[in-house]
Amino acid sequence: MAAKIISGKEISKEIREELKKEVQELKEKHGVTPGLVTILVGNNPASVSYVTAKQKAAHDLGFYSVQDNQPEDISEEALLDLIKKYNEDPKIHGILVQLPLPKHIDERKVIYAIDPRKDVDGFHPVNVGKMVIGEPCFLPCTPHGILVMLERAGVEVDGAEVVVVGRSNIVGKPVANLLLQKRKPVGNATVTVCHTGTRDMAFHTRRADILIVAAGRPKVVTADMVKEGVVVIDVGVNRIGTTPEGKAILCGDVDFESVKEKAAAITPVPGGVGPMTITMLMKNTVEAAKLWAGLPCEVA
Ligand code: GUN
Repeated sequence: MAAKIISGKEISKEIREELKKEVQELKEKHGVTPGLVTILVGNNPASVSYVTAKQKAAHDLGFYSVQDNQPEDISEEALLDLIKKYNEDPKIHGILVQLPLPKHIDERKVIYAIDPRKDVDGFHPVNVGKMVIGEPCFLPCTPHGILVMLERAGVEVDGAEVVVVGRSNIVGKPVANLLLQKRKPVGNATVTVCHTGTRDMAFHTRRADILIVAAGRPKVVTADMVKEGVVVIDVGVNRIGTTPEGKAILCGDVDFESVKEKAAAITPVPGGVGPMTITMLMKNTVEAAKLWAGLPCEVA
């Protein structure tokens, strides 16, 4: 039986409608306009397209939004100064520095420089630490988006065997951590993490009730590696070519065509996790604005 498609595009649309109302209310009742700056260093095509989508979403929701483009050769010191400026800017509640950064800039220093109260990416160690011990904080956007997708798609996570492929700081580690927590409504799973050192990946993936793939390589999970009825979340976005019109041809880390014949549910690429990541960034920015205004919020 072909799988149910979990559409991140549709779920995102629902959440963005909810956020739009919340932003309107924040403006009317409290005089607060959520403010987001996205800092882009250089012009890596994938980063340009991600940042453009983030800015468009912020604009559509009625945020105060700033796109700050910096040259590829900006010094580390100048970038740290820029972050300091936005840390002190009362109109800005969320700061996002698009990664990866050029090699001459230490990403760690940049992440540490962002005020944790404006860290809408959830990458600052203060937020990472709070997340691990289950305290309110900014959750990283892709893992948070995955949790919300599972919740809104009605997937039973409590007690499930979850297998995560990939151990990055942005996706694999945090999503594994969140799903093993005694967290409602999505959590309390038994979690296995596979990575490049895993001897027999298929042994693990075949046991999964829920399989989350963030390997960063196209179509590494094939139908023979999953069991019937699995729920598959494909985090990969791989550019495998270009259309005659010049548009990127994308595929996930999962071989969608074959795996969808065995899965109970699966996310597509594009239109799956990608839109959710951006939506959760918007959610974090609204929460950051509420935090700044001293209103009840989910991050403190
Ligand atoms: N590069 C790839 N994903 C992300 C993300 O979620 N946030 C930032 N800042 N950079 C990224």
